[in-house]
Amino acid sequence: MYKTSSPKVQLPAGTYPAGLLASFAPRLIAWQREHGRHDLPWQNTRDPYRIWLSEIMLQQTQVSTVIPYYARFLERFPTVEALAAAPSDDVMALWAGLGYYTRARNLHRCAQVVTDEHGGQFPSTGEALAELPGIGRSTGAAIASFAFGARETILDGNVKRVLARVFGVEGFPGEKRVENAMWTLAESIVPGAAASDAEVSAYTQGLMDLGATLCGRGKPDCARCPFAADCVANATGRQRELPAARPKKVVPQRRTWMLVLMDGDAVMLEKRPPSGIWGGLWSLPEAADEAALAERAQAYGASDAAAKGIPLMPLTHTFTHFKLDIEPRLVEVMRDAAALEANDGAFAWVPLAQIDAYGVPAPVRKLLDGLRGPLL
Ligand code: ADE
Repeated sequence: MYKTSSPKVQLPAGTYPAGLLASFAPRLIAWQREHGRHDLPWQNTRDPYRIWLSEIMLQQTQVSTVIPYYARFLERFPTVEALAAAPSDDVMALWAGLGYYTRARNLHRCAQVVTDEHGGQFPSTGEALAELPGIGRSTGAAIASFAFGARETILDGNVKRVLARVFGVEGFPGEKRVENAMWTLAESIVPGAAASDAEVSAYTQGLMDLGATLCGRGKPDCARCPFAADCVANATGRQRELPAARPKKVVPQRRTWMLVLMDGDAVMLEKRPPSGIWGGLWSLPEAADEAALAERAQAYGASDAAAKGIPLMPLTHTFTHFKLDIEPRLVEVMRDAAALEANDGAFAWVPLAQIDAYGVPAPVRKLLDGLRGPLL
């Protein structure tokens, strides 16, 4: 067993339990060797081409789907040069069914760059690999560790889940701040400098295997986990809460009071200004609070006593950027000729049965439809 000294990144003391940080890699390697996956078609090779091909295919596709595609690709394109020289249509046709076709275009371009600019040799560090088309930081690290024994860490969705649970990392891992903290944590626990290439591979594979098997999204199998004794999520029963879910978008909420001014079977609609929400549509008079709405009702001829109106069922309308709570108030009046004069003509008394002829916003339409039965 290698020594656990010389971590790549030293976290400030006390950030996480020192014993757990130091023992994480050796425990994971031991677990992987005994319980991890060993017979996947891209294992047991150090060929960077084969490893790269598998990692690109596995980026957004599950193992069982990838296996037959991987075999067909290797049969058709046994080397990176063969893939680079292939017509693009052949590559795309062979990829068909795996989805996310940008991966296939990048795969082909990457093969050409490796062939033309690197003499057919893949670079040996995650950083250099990540310069190539279609290879990000985590995929670069996976290839470097499997093919070259580089002590670099991966951090895909599965690994984020494992780290969030074991170390109790709070926050949504898709958020940059949380993701950066996870990269630092992940780098601080890679095997020590004395680790062999085989130990490094087992470590990387172990992270993948633990996330894909015992520490899955659904019901984790903590009883069989090598970290059960130290895992924050297990100790606190927070397996379902860690990692934190994507925060719900908070949409601002606005409230408006709407005047349903009725004279017999007719309701008064106002034409809205040409810009802003519901620009140019016919709608109900609005105010920012109940008192202001009563004033508007009075201006339209309602008596003091009736101006407050009768509360109707409130409704909520969701726009893309906010939610609008509508508080309707029903006020009955006799049409007042003077009030009509004062209003610039930007209004209309419309029998409820003829609302269809006017462009009325959906929630207002719904509100008015609800009035048709009992009042007609
Ligand atoms: N997902 C991404 N890389 C993988 C690998 N090498 N083995 C299994 N699943 C993976």
